[in-house]
Amino acid sequence: MDITTIRSIRHSPAKSNGKSPTAPKPETVRVNLDKRSYNIYIERNSLSKLGSIVLKDLKLTSGAEGRVAAVLINPKIENYYGKIVQASLEDAGFTYLPIVLVAGETYKTLQTVRRIYRILYDQAVDRRTVIVAVGGGVIGDVAGYVAATYQRGLDFVQVPTTLLAQVDSSVGGKVGVNLEQAKNLIGAFYQPRVVVADPVTLSSLPFRERRSGLAEIIKCGAIADADFFKFVAEDVTGMLRLSSNRLESAIATSIKIKARVVEQDERDNGIRAILNFGHTVGHAVEALTGYHVYRHGEAVAVGMVSACLIGEEMGITPPSATSAILDVLQKAGFPFHLDERIYPNDVIRVTALDKKSVGGSARFVLLERLGKATAGHDVSNDIIKAALLRQRKL
Ligand SMILES: NC(=O)c1ccc[n+]([C@@H]2O[C@H](COP(=O)([O-])OP(=O)(O)OC[C@H]3O[C@@H](n4cnc5c(N)ncnc54)[C@H](O)[C@@H]3O)[C@@H](O)[C@H]2O)c1
Repeated sequence: MDITTIRSIRHSPAKSNGKSPTAPKPETVRVNLDKRSYNIYIERNSLSKLGSIVLKDLKLTSGAEGRVAAVLINPKIENYYGKIVQASLEDAGFTYLPIVLVAGETYKTLQTVRRIYRILYDQAVDRRTVIVAVGGGVIGDVAGYVAATYQRGLDFVQVPTTLLAQVDSSVGGKVGVNLEQAKNLIGAFYQPRVVVADPVTLSSLPFRERRSGLAEIIKCGAIADADFFKFVAEDVTGMLRLSSNRLESAIATSIKIKARVVEQDERDNGIRAILNFGHTVGHAVEALTGYHVYRHGEAVAVGMVSACLIGEEMGITPPSATSAILDVLQKAGFPFHLDERIYPNDVIRVTALDKKSVGGSARFVLLERLGKATAGHDVSNDIIKAALLRQRKL
């Protein structure tokens, strides 16, 4: 599978020396999916415009009077941004209904979904209700699943406040929850009506969470655009410290890359698989360490290196691509070697159980070069093992 068709998204770097940030210009990315098309706004302080953006993009020309905005949010995020969100929605005429959920992956469950259904029922909300997710990927996935299913579908608005949610989970319409047996097993494809990403919210985000999102940005460059990869690599530490206005440009470019893939394969039957670069071993590393040792992006960083070494073993990935990826991950302080406590045989066993495996064997996304990925590679266990043993020694 080839992604040359999405290579037309050329990255247009913001003018910056990487040291003295000037306010970057707001960007809008359109996700073109026929009747399910929507805008993603990347703009500083856009939280305070949330209500008017929702009115405009949901085409509520006669206002929001009588409509409930059910806002799913974590206590910490509510503390930081709840008042701005509330004022903005109420100014636009919505009735504000906050639904505050305990943070964390362990609450991404059907039980949480049921609790939310119950609140919506008790509040007697009708089908004109808008479900608004304000938070990271967990809130977005849960809220989206509620929106997809309550009364057979309510309007859904994403307000991602983690870097990972801004560049990845809020884009593309995958929503859902975990089962005890496996992550993200219950879900739906349900596109939001609009996404409002306010980069200012990233200033309260803990460092590890920021870095976790950066892994997905690095991934986007690696699979689709070598120039963009270099742009990120040149000032990766400034981006992590939020001292470089490259970050906002990088958020917009990553969203464009994901959007162009999703437009071609909304339901993940083909090319969308390339977004999984680094995720096959990454998911196994998360699962084998009980989901509380690695942040998602950290596990993806380990997985990207595994995929590069597997690609090298197969004669597909040039060592120069591996070095470039290792270099940027090292600069950002990511883990990149395979921890001694993670056994290659266990990784192989878990990757075979992955949702995306075919006939009991994992399919890998590999780099043909920096900026070009191909999916669907069937890799023998011997090659996976050889690559993982090399990765232990890095
Ligand atoms: N739907 C998709 O396409 C998709 C893609 C990738 C990942 N995901 C899912 O996303 C989830 C991970 O998302 P995540 O990395 O955003 O983690 P998260 O949602 O768990 O958020 C991480 C932590 O950061 C806090 N937080 C959020 N915004 C903050 C802010 N601005 N300031 C301070 N704290 C803040 C949250 O309360 C939480 O404690 C996983 O469940 C994963 O499966 C979904």
